[in-house]
Amino acid sequence: MRPIRSYVLRQGRTTPAQKRALDELFPKYGLQFSGEKLTSPRHAPLVLEIGSGMGETTIAIARAHSEADFVAVEVHGPGVGSLLNAIEREGLANVRVIRHDAVEVLEQMVGDVSLAAIHLFFPDPWPKKRHHKRRLVQPETATLMARKLAPGGILHAATDWPDYAEQMAAVFGAEPLLEPSERGFAARPVTKFESRGQRLGHPIRDLHLRRRQTAPAAR
Ligand SMILES: C[S@@+](CC[C@H](N)C(=O)[O-])C[C@H]1O[C@@H](n2cnc3c(N)ncnc32)[C@H](O)[C@@H]1O
Repeated sequence: MRPIRSYVLRQGRTTPAQKRALDELFPKYGLQFSGEKLTSPRHAPLVLEIGSGMGETTIAIARAHSEADFVAVEVHGPGVGSLLNAIEREGLANVRVIRHDAVEVLEQMVGDVSLAAIHLFFPDPWPKKRHHKRRLVQPETATLMARKLAPGGILHAATDWPDYAEQMAAVFGAEPLLEPSERGFAARPVTKFESRGQRLGHPIRDLHLRRRQTAPAAR
């Protein structure tokens, strides 16, 4: 049975610069989907971003945190192309990109207790009720994400859809491996996408969770 995916691959327009980046820069900064586990070549804290879009946030955070290594996962080709161009332009040595379904990347390429943080910024809201099953945040994915975090590792999610924020709070709150955290791994910069949302009056909510240091007592 085909799994329910959190995205629909739109054809969309790929600009010549994005296409060039996919051809020429992917071999430099990209990682192929495989069964091989992700590691930081220099043993730095490893942060996985789910659905990096055009990569604006990825770049800002990676620039501000040269002490950490970032892996951005995105399925949309033009977004991957833009991010690759930005990595090259900024001369960043701490960002790699995977063009694949992030759920499968978590399952196949991320070892348990290996991540310092997971970033999930403005995942597709799937606003229609009959599409809610496509939302990325579900009890199973919350457990999957929590398992991949090292103890004390941060799960930072953001959304401008109030009912999705409530769903996230409920789902993450019910995950025994997670507990609320005061702050994220990194400050999230305000993006163009977000300022548009703010102009339209969409309240933005950030959720910070932390993997518990010790296993919760059995209930
Ligand atoms: C609404 S956009 C937000 C992009 C970016 N995080 C931002 O804040 O601007 C959501 C992105 O998640 C990507 N996406 C959705 N499901 C995904 C999945 N399972 N794996 C990888 N990317 C996914 C979509 O292609 C889209 O680019």
